[in-house]
Amino acid sequence: MVKVLVLLLLYTSAARAAFRFANYYGDHMVLQRAPAQANIWGYVDECAAVNITFNSATISATVTPDGGTECRWIATLPATDAVTPFTITATSLQGTITLADVLFGDVWVCSGQSNMQFTVPQAFNASEEEALADKYPNIRLFTAALMASDTPVEELLAVEQPWSVASAKTVGGGNWTYFSASCWFYGRNIYDVVQYPIGLVDTDWGGTPVEAWSSPDALAKCGKYTSSRKADGKAPSPDQPSVLWNAMIYPLLNMTIKGAVWYQGEANAGDPSTYNCTFPAMIDDWRGKWKNASQHTSSLFPFGFVQLAAYGSDNSSSFSPGFPVIRWAQTADYGFVPNPRLRAVFMAVAMDLGDPSSPFGSIHPRDKQDVGLRLALAGRAIAYGDSEVYFTGPLATTATMSTDMQEVVVEYTSLAGSEVELRYSYGFELGCSDATWLDATATAADSNKVMVGVPACAAGAMPTALRYCWRSDPCSFKLCPVYSGDLPSPPFQMNLT
Ligand SMILES: *[C@@H]1O[C@H](CO)[C@@H](O)[C@H](O)[C@H]1NC(C)=O
Ligand SMILES: *[C@@H]1O[C@H](CO)[C@@H](O)[C@H](O)[C@H]1NC(C)=O
Ligand SMILES: *[C@@H]1O[C@H](CO)[C@@H](O)[C@H](O)[C@H]1NC(C)=O
Ligand SMILES: *[C@@H]1O[C@H](CO)[C@@H](O)[C@H](O)[C@H]1NC(C)=O
Ligand SMILES: *[C@@H]1O[C@H](CO)[C@@H](O)[C@H](O)[C@H]1NC(C)=O
Ligand SMILES: *[C@@H]1O[C@H](CO)[C@@H](O)[C@H](O)[C@H]1NC(C)=O
Ligand SMILES: *[C@@H]1O[C@H](CO)[C@@H](O)[C@H](O)[C@H]1NC(C)=O
Repeated sequence: MVKVLVLLLLYTSAARAAFRFANYYGDHMVLQRAPAQANIWGYVDECAAVNITFNSATISATVTPDGGTECRWIATLPATDAVTPFTITATSLQGTITLADVLFGDVWVCSGQSNMQFTVPQAFNASEEEALADKYPNIRLFTAALMASDTPVEELLAVEQPWSVASAKTVGGGNWTYFSASCWFYGRNIYDVVQYPIGLVDTDWGGTPVEAWSSPDALAKCGKYTSSRKADGKAPSPDQPSVLWNAMIYPLLNMTIKGAVWYQGEANAGDPSTYNCTFPAMIDDWRGKWKNASQHTSSLFPFGFVQLAAYGSDNSSSFSPGFPVIRWAQTADYGFVPNPRLRAVFMAVAMDLGDPSSPFGSIHPRDKQDVGLRLALAGRAIAYGDSEVYFTGPLATTATMSTDMQEVVVEYTSLAGSEVELRYSYGFELGCSDATWLDATATAADSNKVMVGVPACAAGAMPTALRYCWRSDPCSFKLCPVYSGDLPSPPFQMNLT
């Protein structure tokens, strides 16, 4: 059934002719609401003039040649925050085409690898969550098909799930198909608060590295892959640089969006050393390119992400050691004070949501509800400017050796009204100048500080650093040592001051 649908929706260039909307516009969709202006675009033969009627206004589209006899048309609609469904009509000499039941709301793009692709049917409490989706007809869903390309493509090469009204059926498409659980729970939580339509565009592919989702410009910023892959007649594989940017992000750039959420990093954990460049470079580049193409998307659109969840059930430092390194690179991107590298970025910590017995492997924890909830709390604060919402666990800023050398004092930034809670004494390690790490015991918390005992380094070595939860699976089952409220403090590794 799913395969048949994909084939039906697969547009080849031969089938492109005639007057139509680009393939990610459709009935039941959500277009970005005011104050932004939404774009719609499509194709028409022979550059015939195209008029759009919307909300009793008529707008003439800009029509430009697109090679051969085909032309592209694009129009920008007047901003609206009306919550009633619209019919949008486009007319040319070739006839009239319509988009029916279009809502105006916030459009969020959800991207990344398998933990974003992971669907509601795979999550905990799947049947209850699917049934609940029937109560959210003002959330609309769209899923891009898995496609890779050596060059940027204008519209999606294929659609997995056309724009659909949220329902038990449309969130319940099956394993790894639709709909993304992290995206759904994020959007549902946002909807519950804003109470106006939400459009969720899911475009992700399991097992893929950040480089695949990055344009050549973004990779060049990190000195990576300055020449593109040589075309060799073979279809690109999805782990190659820029191929998913080309096929699954670039085509969407002309759609006005509110922001993006991202869950990725596992595929970079084998070689994590450049993630602290590639990830922020990708965020910057997506923002700049979306603004340049669509005009009406903010050049600083909010970008949320899920920090890597627990993987494995092994509390040894040699199991998947890249995971904490990726988490640390992600934490810095989130705006680890005092040097936030990017603005309007928000993060959900998930290292305490491990699921060692997941039937999909421990790298795919089934608790996407907490992921979506935490991401939405942060999104409400950062993307929607709600200054009341409690959205982050404590963020460590400094680790200072006491003058008597008996304890390290970790200082945290935490939100007003929330104290650092020390629930367990494990999880901290002292780094010595001989490159060893020794277990260190947290002894007490006081307001925004945690005191950690200092074990003795080997003879001749000095304490130099402190790290926290520096494991692939440091504290599953919500058993992390440091929280505030229900939100865990992310891991860190810092030199002592
Ligand atoms: C588009 O609108 C203009 C101005 O109202 C009108 O002159 C023209 O005939 C319309 N074209 C089409 C194809 O509907
Ligand atoms: C999804 O995966 C689960 C766990 O492996 C399996 O029990 C279930 O049958 C799968 N569902 C479908 C529709 O394949
Ligand atoms: C966006 O639309 C404009 C106008 O049709 C076109 O020139 C541009 O190439 C499009 N950009 C992308 C990324 O498709
Ligand atoms: C990025 O990580 C690498 C390896 O862990 C490190 O050498 C480098 O200093 C980091 N760069 C930044 C900007 O933090
Ligand atoms: C956006 O366009 C400007 C002007 O052409 C260009 O300088 C900038 O590099 C573009 N941004 C990105 C991210 O490509
Ligand atoms: C993980 O291992 C360390 C070192 O053996 C130990 O101190 C700590 O208690 C363990 N943590 C958990 C959650 O089991
Ligand atoms: C699943 O449902 C049970 C019973 O309502 C609830 O206690 C539990 O928190 C739910 N799990 C998740 C991950 O939401």
